[in-house]
Amino acid sequence: MYICICKAITDSAIREAVCQGACCMRDLKTCLGVGTQCGKCACHAREILNETLAESRQDCIISH
Ligand code: FES
Repeated sequence: MYICICKAITDSAIREAVCQGACCMRDLKTCLGVGTQCGKCACHAREILNETLAESRQDCIISH
């Protein structure tokens, strides 16, 4: 599902970025460009980010 229409970023791309180490909206903006145009996706992108961080917390603790 597209989260950011302006940059054609899907929820999968956001989850992948989090798996690669993105841990805040600034990281998502830098690596994907999410929210850098109209900004309408920022709220939803943050939700996906927080969900993914919560889900992957255990994995991160193990891998770091
Ligand atoms: Fe993401 Fe416009 S929808 S910047």
